[in-house]
Amino acid sequence: MIGDNKIVFSGVQPSGNLTIGNYLGAIKNFSRFSEDYKTFYCVVDLHAITVRQVPAELRRRTYETLALYMACGLDPKKNTLFVQSHVSAHAELGWMLDCYTMFGELSRMTQFKDKSQKHSQNINAGLFTYPTLMAADILLYQTDVVPVGVDQKQHLELARDVAERFNQIYGPTFTVPEGYMSTDTMKIMSLAEPTAKMSKSDTNQNAVVYILDSKDDVMRKFKKAVTDSDACVRYSEDKPGVSNLMTIYRAFTGKTFEEIEREFDGRGYGDFKLAVGEACADGLAPVRDEFARLMADKAHLEEIMKAGADEAAYYARKTMSKVRRKIGFVN
Ligand code: TRP
Repeated sequence: MIGDNKIVFSGVQPSGNLTIGNYLGAIKNFSRFSEDYKTFYCVVDLHAITVRQVPAELRRRTYETLALYMACGLDPKKNTLFVQSHVSAHAELGWMLDCYTMFGELSRMTQFKDKSQKHSQNINAGLFTYPTLMAADILLYQTDVVPVGVDQKQHLELARDVAERFNQIYGPTFTVPEGYMSTDTMKIMSLAEPTAKMSKSDTNQNAVVYILDSKDDVMRKFKKAVTDSDACVRYSEDKPGVSNLMTIYRAFTGKTFEEIEREFDGRGYGDFKLAVGEACADGLAPVRDEFARLMADKAHLEEIMKAGADEAAYYARKTMSKVRRKIGFVN
């Protein structure tokens, strides 16, 4: 809590292009908090280097991710937008929390298991302790609420466990955070393989819709989306392709599943896919335009990063001095 305001923190990695899954499942929800909460939204570049990055690309994507935050409606006057590596307390607290996190706990993280399979040549210690750094991000700001996609649920549980453990040993130090997982867009699935999550690193170009895709690309991808042979627009677990398209359509139009079923009653999938493509492309157009405008002015983005980091560091310092004192470090 800062003053009367509860605190929201979330982070997005500057790696890969963001998908409509990232948009609908997380980023689009971020702006709803800025009226009632003190909000921190971070570009987590320290997390990104758990996987090998090309330096110039990492740098470019850091700017892009910040610009995308803003293009998705986050006003830097109402939200603290910053880059993780600009506030050294993240790495510092990350190390300290490593010492209160068990090897066994980290070994159970499904994302670690997945990523070590995918990057079997580079199973580095950072990949293993990734969740502790994420816990540090969250706990550093005494965060109450963390809006994330469902895939981050296990990491959030770990952050809660670590906070509780630390508080148990040293007395109340960290706020124990709650996750906020938006239920209506829980999980956007791949268009090509609708039983798998839509992933920004998918190699199949038709499986993934990116926030910055052109209208032509969006339309083409939806036209090719995998459905079924039933030719009936109905939400059902045994129709994962159609249900996924309905989830996307609902998210962009605000219509309910019943309304969508009625709208496409007796019409084929062709019509439906076109409508989903249109709704998605129209919804993304303002984001894409604003993104292009912001990316044209790097100096402006740098000013925002700088102001955000100063603000974040101010709050981080308060927690750090408390933590240092509790652990027993000499002041
Ligand atoms: N691990 C998150 C992801 O991959 C990103 C992240 C890092 C994050 N630190 C965070 C999300 C803190 C929420 C809060 O999506």
